[in-house]
Amino acid sequence: MTDPKPLPVFLTGASRGIGAATARHFAGKGHPLALVARGAEATEQLAREINAAGGNAVAIPCDVGDAKSVAQAVARAVKELGGIGIVINNAGTIEPIAAIVDADPDAWSRAIDVNLSGPIYVMHHAVPHLPRGGVVINITSGAAEHPGYGRSAYCASKAGLMIATRILAVEEGEKRGITVIGFSPGLVDTDMLAFNRANRMGNAGNVNVAEIRPPAEVARIIDYLCSAAAADLSGTIVSARDPVLRQRAGV
Ligand SMILES: NC(=O)c1ccc[n+]([C@@H]2O[C@H](COP(=O)([O-])OP(=O)(O)OC[C@H]3O[C@@H](n4cnc5c(N)ncnc54)[C@H](OP(=O)(O)O)[C@@H]3O)[C@@H](O)[C@H]2O)c1
Repeated sequence: MTDPKPLPVFLTGASRGIGAATARHFAGKGHPLALVARGAEATEQLAREINAAGGNAVAIPCDVGDAKSVAQAVARAVKELGGIGIVINNAGTIEPIAAIVDADPDAWSRAIDVNLSGPIYVMHHAVPHLPRGGVVINITSGAAEHPGYGRSAYCASKAGLMIATRILAVEEGEKRGITVIGFSPGLVDTDMLAFNRANRMGNAGNVNVAEIRPPAEVARIIDYLCSAAAADLSGTIVSARDPVLRQRAGV
């Protein structure tokens, strides 16, 4: 039996950090990729790198906090890649870092737009394109379950994304034959973590450096979650800290 053809991936937040590592990992396994982020320069550079190595990647500028921008990005990915088989909602922001009573309400709303509405816009537009065996991975955070001082927008948006993930699994999982998983990557060595650590407040930002993992390791776990072997995890939120998941993913 031949291996199934690698499914096209719609990956948000592909310009750096976990997203860029995930793009390189999936490209190495032959998946066509839509590299989605606001800044086109970094995703175009990454697409050039992937395509020069024989892969198939297209950079698609998009602000996930803008519903219209997401609709256009999904339509372009479908057209240029011939479909979407895997959605990875990875784009996110940790700003504003401020106590609830001090935070600028517009900045607070913007974080909800990007971290919560954004993945919901992507699911709304992309899920109807998924074939049976398709996958949605939503990158959540341990912050969803821990009240971080000055991190109300981030924690609240990630908590919202956890329940939105479980709702999509209930609504569409069985009906469409797709897998929907929330994934909390733990502490990952990226710009976001550096920014979080540089802005310590109260109980937040002071992390155990021994627990920081490289983005490439997180990419391998995401790859496992997109495999048929992880279909039983649909409708759940899993964590890179979980030794059982790590063993299953082989990291
Ligand atoms: N690093 C950690 O320790 C950690 C822990 C738990 C969860 N996470 C989650 O993992 C995901 C990736 O985080 P990371 O650490 O890799 O962060 P990062 O290095 O800051 O990268 C964030 C990515 O999201 C994109 N992005 C931000 N706002 C966007 C918008 N409005 N529209 C489209 N793209 C947008 C950025 O690209 P542009 O700026 O070009 O748009 C960038 O590609 C996030 O959802 C984060 O919450 C990270």
